[in-house]
Amino acid sequence: MARNLIVILSSLCIWTGARCAPAGLDSSVFEGADFYQLFNDPEGHLKLNPRLKTDDRITAHGYPAELHYVPTEDGYIIGLFRIPYSHKLQNQAKYRPIVLMQHGISGCSDNWIAMGPDNALPFQLADAGYDVWLGNARGNTYSRNHSSISTQHPYFWRFSWHEIGYFDIAAMIDYALKTNGQDQQSIHYVGHSQGTTVFLALMSTRPEYNEKIKTAHLLAPVAFMNNMDSLMARAVGPYLGHHNTYALLFESQEFLPYNDFILAFIYNTCRPDSRFRDFCSVFHNSSTDGRSNSSAVAINALTTPAGVSTDQFLHYLQEQQSGHFRRYDFGAKRNWIEYNAEVPPDYPTNLITCSTHLWYSDNDEMAHVEDVLRLAETLPNKEMHHMEDPMWNHGDFATNWEVRKYINEPIIKIMNQFEGLF
Ligand SMILES: *[C@@H]1O[C@H](CO)[C@@H](O)[C@H](O)[C@H]1NC(C)=O
Ligand SMILES: *[C@@H]1O[C@H](CO)[C@@H](O)[C@H](O)[C@H]1NC(C)=O
Ligand SMILES: *[C@@H]1O[C@H](CO)[C@@H](O)[C@H](O)[C@H]1NC(C)=O
Repeated sequence: MARNLIVILSSLCIWTGARCAPAGLDSSVFEGADFYQLFNDPEGHLKLNPRLKTDDRITAHGYPAELHYVPTEDGYIIGLFRIPYSHKLQNQAKYRPIVLMQHGISGCSDNWIAMGPDNALPFQLADAGYDVWLGNARGNTYSRNHSSISTQHPYFWRFSWHEIGYFDIAAMIDYALKTNGQDQQSIHYVGHSQGTTVFLALMSTRPEYNEKIKTAHLLAPVAFMNNMDSLMARAVGPYLGHHNTYALLFESQEFLPYNDFILAFIYNTCRPDSRFRDFCSVFHNSSTDGRSNSSAVAINALTTPAGVSTDQFLHYLQEQQSGHFRRYDFGAKRNWIEYNAEVPPDYPTNLITCSTHLWYSDNDEMAHVEDVLRLAETLPNKEMHHMEDPMWNHGDFATNWEVRKYINEPIIKIMNQFEGLF
């Protein structure tokens, strides 16, 4: 059991790239720590250190910030942040096109602003005249809220990224359109990693939402996963990527709400006598190539992991095992009830008709080039943006210190062209 947990946990770190980087960690703090005991420490699960919220971090740079509570059709309440205009432009009375940005797995809205006012896309978008909204998936620090179910209740955690797309993203889009007050009918979208998966899930299962999208920018798009080049997923997928007793043990639980736990885990994984040294070197490698903005990595380490349901990971492992991009596998019996079929249905990605830009790279072990190209073949209205840097990996889309030049400016240019602003 403890060993299985270690394996899943390390998959989290690898999935989230450089954010789990143990850089600067004084490992003597954890000398002699027992991993299983750490996991069982009830205080560990409840403690959330007082910390700055996304809106505090935004206003610290002089920008206006708002926090909105957005109800979903199934009762969750999403914490949605907004930079409504730029204090530099004083453009609050002007037309400001809406942009919605959605973070990756176990992340939160803080990840987008960690690069600071000169390099982070939300600030650059505000300065380009946009109305910027930063989403949070159900279950993370800002979206642990429901109209009737407590987060302590196991039912709260019965969701995968399908529900984040189908309910949360849909609700955020409609809420931003309504609240902006300028009679806009559609938005621009930017997602990273799981933020791309949820978009694809929503647009294929509720195709009427395609009309509400002007341009969508999928950074490191994750849909098909069978070429995913992760030691971790290959090791654990055969056990947890199928509906069986292993998977049942882990299904529908809150996962990873707090950092010290992860730091302890990293320490244990990287000990000289650990069987998991290989995994350790994977995230050391991704964090020590020297191209991440270290202050951004530090902010991300303070805010991430922000809390997820185990089903989000199980669903990804299912994709990696099946080679399909499809709905959650509940096992044959419940699949008949949910889907009227023994196996879950594929997402009909051919129904995603909105303008979709795929930003991808050769060195991304989560969004493998072959899997991205396979997704692209199914999309009727896409544009491909291949990163030239051969070392560019999954985390670089978020924290590379040249993200402004290679990601932000090209994206803003495409949005500006759509808006007729040059
Ligand atoms: C890293 O981010 C900080 C803001 O968090 C910024 O001030 C700094 O210029 C960035 N450094 C590089 C090398 O991009
Ligand atoms: C939950 O949502 C309500 C609004 O429906 C809000 O007033 C409350 O502050 C939220 N609680 C948390 C913990 O976010
Ligand atoms: C880490 O990087 C080193 C040097 O580039 C390489 O030899 C090693 O195979 C890498 N390890 C993993 C697990 O990727």
